[in-house]
Amino acid sequence: MRSILSVSSLLLATTLVSADDSTYNVNAICTSDQMMRYYGTSNNGLWGGSWWQSAILMASLADVGSLDSSYNGTYFDAYANTYSNAPSFNGYTGFIDQFYDDEGWWGNAWLTVYDLTQNPDYLNLAISIYDDMAGGLGSPCGGIYWQKDADYIASIANELYIALAAGLANRVSDDQKQGYLDAATTGWDWFFNIGVVGDDWLVVDGVDNSTCEPTGNKYSYNQGVILSAAVDLAKATGNSTYLDLAGNIANATTTTNGTFADENGILKDCDNDSCDIQGAMFKGPLFRGLRQLQLASPHDNWKDFITTNAKSLWNNDLNVTDGDCNTGSSFAGPVTGVNEVTQGAALDCLVAAWAVTS
Ligand SMILES: *[C@@H]1O[C@H](CO)[C@@H](O)[C@H](O)[C@H]1NC(C)=O
Ligand SMILES: *[C@@H]1O[C@H](CO)[C@@H](O)[C@H](O)[C@H]1NC(C)=O
Ligand SMILES: *[C@@H]1O[C@H](CO)[C@@H](O)[C@H](O)[C@H]1NC(C)=O
Ligand SMILES: *[C@@H]1O[C@H](CO)[C@@H](O)[C@H](O)[C@H]1NC(C)=O
Ligand SMILES: *[C@@H]1O[C@H](CO)[C@@H](O)[C@H](O)[C@H]1NC(C)=O
Ligand SMILES: *[C@@H]1O[C@H](CO)[C@@H](O)[C@H](O)[C@H]1NC(C)=O
Ligand SMILES: *[C@@H]1O[C@H](CO)[C@@H](O)[C@H](O)[C@H]1NC(C)=O
Repeated sequence: MRSILSVSSLLLATTLVSADDSTYNVNAICTSDQMMRYYGTSNNGLWGGSWWQSAILMASLADVGSLDSSYNGTYFDAYANTYSNAPSFNGYTGFIDQFYDDEGWWGNAWLTVYDLTQNPDYLNLAISIYDDMAGGLGSPCGGIYWQKDADYIASIANELYIALAAGLANRVSDDQKQGYLDAATTGWDWFFNIGVVGDDWLVVDGVDNSTCEPTGNKYSYNQGVILSAAVDLAKATGNSTYLDLAGNIANATTTTNGTFADENGILKDCDNDSCDIQGAMFKGPLFRGLRQLQLASPHDNWKDFITTNAKSLWNNDLNVTDGDCNTGSSFAGPVTGVNEVTQGAALDCLVAAWAVTS
């Protein structure tokens, strides 16, 4: 058995050796297989013990199903298990917790699973999550609060709220559409007027609730979710201005030797292993947003950024052991901090490369 095993892993390692337009699919599937080895290990419907990150991982898995029809039904049981069991494992009901951004990750992820499965339970769940998030409106500065304690106003919670509203506008029946669309456009206008998007098209973390001034660091997920929102808003309204504004954000994010990309055009997130299991997730939603924007409004510079990063992570951030594709936290390498979240972030990048080259 031992020799058979090592021979088959050698063969697999050979097929996995390259990263180019013809292998992003193989690489993505090997990465998602490895991600699934973290799934439901405590029968909890989650990947590892991660809560909000599991939403992002679930959506990436559904993306694989939509790109390769032979994987469409493969994980329907997993989605159903997560739907039924994940909230109670954490003592929640219906994916509602203290944090509006956590809720937003789940709401948007269930829309992605709905797109794949066409199961209306998942659409209805996304609607109920949206309704709870709308309860976060009413801050003195506009937008929704970060959490139910009503203090800070986080960019990420607002981006997820705008994206979910716009996503629902495109998926509910015509007589339901307008309310979601109004919420999305109101949220978008607020986001671009309050100052969190700088003149450099980089997004800061949030808004101070006492001064209403933008504040905080710049994170890659804040550069990404707003791109997803723009794509659904452009689709719902037919107004391409949303794509132009998103394009400026994408350009600023992907600039070589800029704030986010290094001299080789590789995303700097988690360079030198400075990420925890929260920060290691951030690049996933960036690649999701870039993929969606690139498919809606193709630009060679975004496509190049996506494929350059997919190649780098495959060449520098991969540990193939017994055919398992373990991916680490820094796309520039070396392999460090491997966990369910680093698998998920790598999967988002590989799925993006696959989608924009096929
Ligand atoms: C996936 O399967 C579902 C259920 O059979 C079907 O409704 C849906 O259209 C399929 N999606 C894709 C992207 O092929
Ligand atoms: C602002 O946030 C602080 C906590 O940081 C909180 O005590 C206060 O009630 C909040 N005020 C408003 C108007 O939201
Ligand atoms: C398109 O959207 C932009 C950004 O919100 C807005 O300023 C503009 O008025 C819209 N154009 C139309 C024709 O509605
Ligand atoms: C983004 O960069 C590309 C390549 O330099 C350029 O063609 C485009 O006009 C820029 N802006 C937007 C909004 O796409
Ligand atoms: C990268 O940017 C820094 C300053 O921002 C500059 O000093 C350095 O020369 C640049 N490197 C390359 C390769 O352009
Ligand atoms: C990571 O380490 C390298 C080599 O020590 C250094 O050049 C680089 O600036 C570091 N990057 C970050 C983001 O700290
Ligand atoms: C690669 O993965 C194997 C199996 O998990 C582990 O034993 C090994 O230490 C890893 N190597 C690196 C460089 O992370």
